[in-house]
Amino acid sequence: MRELYLGIETSCDDTSCALYSPGRGVVVHRTAAQLDHRIYGGVVPEIASRSHMKTLLPLYETVMKEGGIDLDGLAGIGVTHGPGLTGSLLVGLSFAKALSYGNSIPLVGVHHLEGHILANALEGDFETPALVLVVSGGHTQLILTEEIGCYRFMGGTRDDAAGEAFDKIGKLLGLPFPGGPAVEREAKGGDPHAFDFPMGLRHSGMCDFSFSGLKTAVRLEVESLGKLTPQLVRDVAASSQEAIVQILVEKSELAAQGTKARRFYLAGGVAANGRLRDCMKERLEPRGLDVSWPAVEYCTDNAAMIACAASHQIQAGRRGGLALNTFSRGELASWR
Ligand code: KG4
Ligand code: ZN
Repeated sequence: MRELYLGIETSCDDTSCALYSPGRGVVVHRTAAQLDHRIYGGVVPEIASRSHMKTLLPLYETVMKEGGIDLDGLAGIGVTHGPGLTGSLLVGLSFAKALSYGNSIPLVGVHHLEGHILANALEGDFETPALVLVVSGGHTQLILTEEIGCYRFMGGTRDDAAGEAFDKIGKLLGLPFPGGPAVEREAKGGDPHAFDFPMGLRHSGMCDFSFSGLKTAVRLEVESLGKLTPQLVRDVAASSQEAIVQILVEKSELAAQGTKARRFYLAGGVAANGRLRDCMKERLEPRGLDVSWPAVEYCTDNAAMIACAASHQIQAGRRGGLALNTFSRGELASWR
């Protein structure tokens, strides 16, 4: 009985392959991060595509070898087909199509956000209905998951993603890329109330976010401060992290009102932030919501979450084929 699903994720700057079993969980997971982008302070799309081309085949071979199976043992293949960088997505999708077509293995395209949501199903029970905050370098969205395959958009960012705001603030403070972990590190020694940074759309009554005003406010503050002492860097980091965390928490509280959700899941790279995790627990658990998040390796982009999403789709009878295409933008649609 075939029970292993192969996942392939190449939507941005991480090349990832994984094998997932609905009964056993993640069997093998390998992600190769691309470090060449660091000197540019952000992801360079052409470098990303070329790097996926070099890395994907050997990574796939390693994963299949470590999983101890060949293509005959696969129950299906899932590949991220959007949203993301077109060139990067095409490397993964073309590879997945060739494997599927050449060996008659079921194939499905997975929306990157469905992957992030189901990262929470990799190591434990995924209980629905659940409210999920997907918060990464490319996304900030609140999604009500009625059941796996049935998603309702509750709100999202109108401009930058929260992770992008962390990255830009890190850059303004002269911290290494990516800014999120560096800002969190600095914030530990800083005063979160030293600066009163704006929380975009705070009183809009909607679950939407905006982080561009915060980015501008931090830039103006940094310019007016002149030379930054190490303590000022820590204070700006702590105050801007606080503004991001508090707005994420307030909008999550708002989205939870009037839903039947009893579970709240964090997903995406920013879910690694300790202050965000603590504040979510502190504020949502008294409202009757159980708060949890995936292990750090499954918060950031990874193929295990894509393989997991594929297992649900394929078991529900969904199939993609050679007509599957990539998309650079697009909401997560329900498929059930
Ligand atoms: O999910 P991810 O790996 O890639 C995207 O799909 O974007 O998320 C990367 C983002 C980056 O913006 C990074 O700065 C942010 O997640 N991030 C963090 C932390 N760790 C990663 N942001 C805040 N605190 C962290 N500890
Ligand atoms: Zn992502």
